[in-house]
Amino acid sequence: MSLLANSVDRALEWSVFGSFTRIGSALRSKLDRWAPLEGRTMTDRVVVMSGATSGLGLEAARAFATMGATVEIIARNEAKADATCAELRRSTANAKVNYVVADTGDLAALRRAAAELLRRHPAIHVLIHNAGALDDARQTSPEGIELTVASQVVGPFLLTSLLLPALKTAAPSRVLWVSSGGMYSEPLSVDRLEMSAADYDGTTAYARAKRAQVTLVELWAKKLEADRIVVHSMHPGWADTPGVARSLPTFRRVVGPLLRTARDGADTLVWLAVDDAPLAKSGLFWLDRRPRPIHRLSSTERSDTADERERLWRWAVEKSGISPAQPAGSFPQTSDPSR
Ligand SMILES: NC(=O)c1ccc[n+]([C@@H]2O[C@H](COP(=O)([O-])OP(=O)(O)OC[C@H]3O[C@@H](n4cnc5c(N)ncnc54)[C@H](OP(=O)(O)O)[C@@H]3O)[C@@H](O)[C@H]2O)c1
Repeated sequence: MSLLANSVDRALEWSVFGSFTRIGSALRSKLDRWAPLEGRTMTDRVVVMSGATSGLGLEAARAFATMGATVEIIARNEAKADATCAELRRSTANAKVNYVVADTGDLAALRRAAAELLRRHPAIHVLIHNAGALDDARQTSPEGIELTVASQVVGPFLLTSLLLPALKTAAPSRVLWVSSGGMYSEPLSVDRLEMSAADYDGTTAYARAKRAQVTLVELWAKKLEADRIVVHSMHPGWADTPGVARSLPTFRRVVGPLLRTARDGADTLVWLAVDDAPLAKSGLFWLDRRPRPIHRLSSTERSDTADERERLWRWAVEKSGISPAQPAGSFPQTSDPSR
């Protein structure tokens, strides 16, 4: 990395706006001389991903299918999944694009989906937790868990554990979580993670779920190191997607043409899935192909203690209904990698 690239990158990071808009990716791609993703091949790889029926996930799935990967989409809407897969098969000339149906907040549906995925694919090279939404109205999952955390924290946690055998078989393999810079505002607090009907606020619930994601990624990374499974989270910047149009219309109007395209927002996710560099170190949080700190505020940093992390891990184990009878040796019950 050149001195100029580092200086510009630091200035962008400091400004936030410059970093998260298309200004950030445009400058960094030139200064860091990003290697093009076009022309890469993933012919023998299996990619399982949620949230590929729209926005960033759709663009990432398109990139993987173009590279020849076998792509499995986890989607909550069967008709949409069917149409998405048909369109991807047609436009990429890759017949190996399929789906399983599950809402990522529905633990029973995820268990069925995982069983089907394991039946289809003894080896999974990349698992991507991309499904996410910022919902103004509080809802609960079939298990009674507030839906933001159910679908973006508990469900992905369960799915990771259920697919571990196939990830181990494919090692070196990758588990990638699409988080958000929105998490910078929220401390780590297990007690406040699942918001009640009395205090629910969609933006806060979303930011807390995203904070939990980046923390769990660091914990998973340590746990899975010996299995040669790397675990990363990433932030796409601010990208113009159907999700942003639906949840943040005013923000979308204000930032307007400076929003990234969905393809641009998905760049680092695709790069994390296909490039060799992310295999070198696990448990990082990325934006524009560089690792970033998970804290920008001293208040959130203070909240991030070993005890709170341990509590988060136990909370996720309990909420996802993972029992000690989970397949032998496959699942860590505590966040401490030495145990
Ligand atoms: N766009 C941004 O600027 C931005 C910034 C930071 C982080 N992110 C993150 O990027 C990810 C993708 O967002 P996006 O902007 O591409 O949004 P999007 O266009 O709304 O796409 C979201 C995808 O997730 C799926 N999904 C949502 N909740 C689900 C659930 N409970 N079960 C199964 N699938 C579910 C949606 O399925 P349906 O098609 O059925 O709705 C859709 O495929 C999210 O995790 C989001 O938090 C985006």
